[in-house]
Amino acid sequence: MPDQNSIQQQIQQLTERLHYLNHQYYQNDVSDVSDQEFDRMLAELQTLEQQYPELALPNSPTQRVGGTITKQFPTALHRYPMLSLGNTYSEADLREFDERVRRVLDSDDYTYVCEMKFDGVAMSLTYEDGQLTQGVTRGDGTRGDVVTPNVRTIKNLPLHLRPAPGQPREFEVRGEIFMPNPVFNDLNAEREQNGEALLANPRNAASGTLKLQDSALVAARRLRFFAYSFLSPGRVFSSHSASLRALKDWGLPVSDTWRCCNTITEVLDFIHAWEKKRFELPVATDGIVIKVDDFRQQEILGFTAKSPRWAIAYKYPAEKARTRLNTIQYQVGRTGAVTPVAMLDPVPLAGTVVKRASVHNANQIAALDLRLGDLVFVEKGGEIIPKITGVDLGARPAGAEPIRYPTECPACNTPLVRPEGEAHYRCPNERGCPPQLKARLEHYVSRKALNIEGLGAETVGRFFDLGLLQTPADIYDLPQRRDELVKLERLGEKSITNLLAGIEGSKQVPFDRVLFGLGIRYVGETVAEKLALHYRSIDAMMAASAEELAATPEVGGVIAESLAFWLQDAGNRELIERLRSAGVQLVLTGEAPQAHSDRLAGLTFVLSGVFEDHSRDELEALIVSHGGKVTGSISKKLSYLVAGDKMGPAKREKATTLKVPIIGEADLLAMLPGEDEAQPEEEILALKNSDSSVESKNLETFPAPKSSANDLGRQGSLF
Ligand code: IVH
Repeated sequence: MPDQNSIQQQIQQLTERLHYLNHQYYQNDVSDVSDQEFDRMLAELQTLEQQYPELALPNSPTQRVGGTITKQFPTALHRYPMLSLGNTYSEADLREFDERVRRVLDSDDYTYVCEMKFDGVAMSLTYEDGQLTQGVTRGDGTRGDVVTPNVRTIKNLPLHLRPAPGQPREFEVRGEIFMPNPVFNDLNAEREQNGEALLANPRNAASGTLKLQDSALVAARRLRFFAYSFLSPGRVFSSHSASLRALKDWGLPVSDTWRCCNTITEVLDFIHAWEKKRFELPVATDGIVIKVDDFRQQEILGFTAKSPRWAIAYKYPAEKARTRLNTIQYQVGRTGAVTPVAMLDPVPLAGTVVKRASVHNANQIAALDLRLGDLVFVEKGGEIIPKITGVDLGARPAGAEPIRYPTECPACNTPLVRPEGEAHYRCPNERGCPPQLKARLEHYVSRKALNIEGLGAETVGRFFDLGLLQTPADIYDLPQRRDELVKLERLGEKSITNLLAGIEGSKQVPFDRVLFGLGIRYVGETVAEKLALHYRSIDAMMAASAEELAATPEVGGVIAESLAFWLQDAGNRELIERLRSAGVQLVLTGEAPQAHSDRLAGLTFVLSGVFEDHSRDELEALIVSHGGKVTGSISKKLSYLVAGDKMGPAKREKATTLKVPIIGEADLLAMLPGEDEAQPEEEILALKNSDSSVESKNLETFPAPKSSANDLGRQGSLF
């Protein structure tokens, strides 16, 4: 039995060394040891803490990995309310602000500090005896959510501070938590590839991440922090600039972009200097914050009800670019809606090159009086897709013709219709219009519907073009057409076997997801689930009258009408019969449709040992139905090892060495959405890069978990 004292000493030494190395790395940009050496020490500490949990120190560097599951965040009152800042877009307002400061102080003797206005999530941190003890969101300004376990995973944020003379025993630091742009771009690229909802901007991504209940998932998201305020009772520093220097000395990350400015002219110079340069920063910024430096003078200036009189935020105008409109492409979506997309001369805008922009619909083309060849203004607000906001009429080429919205479908030449009260023109040729057919097939095989592995969007498109597929029912004829499939290039034996296995497997997919997969207008995932639960079979739904359908609980009139219309269509009835003979589930079996979500999307699990409440098969089915994967072997890429009773020690050891978090059955269940948790349903129009269709994608305010959670490495740091 090793001596407790020596273990304690070992834990303490490792903890201190790792804290020091982290500080060197994140605050001073110095790597004192190799990454492997760092990881080895961290793994050693983790093993010791697992063996002797009672000896683990609070704020241990191992907490960076997360692992705490919070069902509901507790709230806490802010000791000092979290106010907002007065905003302006105008330089004249800034001069006025300066005049007011001079008048109230009755002096010319004051200095400003100019800082970046970071576009993330405000955070209040409490340090006691040099230890981070609490992280609270802004909330309503008076009371916020306590998200300490999530905040502890932010790697450039010190869990304990370097002791320094004059450091108060207890104080608060405020700052901004953000998702660095490259991390955001990676995350979205990955989501796009997986056909998942795109995140609107780094701010939403950061705020959603902070609200995740599993801090291990937060750790994988690589959030960062910048401090911008120090608060404590009593006067510790004489000025804001002195407090920023001290915070940095103590180990807190303070962006080096701030400057002292002696006059409003210097402030304006600072603003101009950063207008373009700010896009080179890895953090999204939307303006400059100007603060009176001297704390005594701040006190004289005081506050209004909402914001300090000693500070103001200058916001940069939304980034705008001017470029030529070459053509309008009309894209036809799954439901036949025709959406115009402007094809532009490539132009740099807020850090990316823009080639297309959305114009929404015909009304907007008319309202903007768009003409081909026009020089148009494109703006990128908070969203990913830029939009055309105006035309440079002075630069209009002579004789430019107004854009004539097509009267026929660009794909199948069917005359377009525009149902009353709708903004979009539609192609009514549901059964023959290629992009609609293709998009419906893509929807049917997609992950949330029949989830047919080996039949992705690209293969569907190819099979469609080859005449192998037209409707979802054709998918079930593919096994009989193996001879044709083997002749296709780039489709090996193995792919065919996978594809056919995927098709066979889809016959087990529960009825509610089949119903969703049929792509009936307005029948999304949640509605499909409700309908399946209520009617329990497609036959019962077909037998119901339009009035009965409209009376289904939680199914509105518009949905019922669309559903009734779909169900009485002869072609759709034939589709249903073919699916039925193929063996697809058109009846709800079991008690309730399987709960499903994409909560575990991108995560892989190994299940090992014997579990208390579920069989291993049940847990596997649960993981899969929430978008996760189950594998057999432990590798560095594994997200979690779910440990049951009697799990072999070798597995535990391997997982520990590879820094794979080990969780229990209860932790796994806690990751899943609760019974009544709503699925975000807000929709945005996303431009697809590859082909000519436009798709609606869910825009979540927060992302589903994605990358592996064991992101302990220090590589990839941005600061
Ligand atoms: S100082 C009294 N400094 O802007 C408010 N705020 O409207 C003192 N923000 O949500 C805030 N960068 O999170 C300050 N350098 C900076 C900032 C900053 C971003 C955010 C802050 C708050 C909002 C204020």
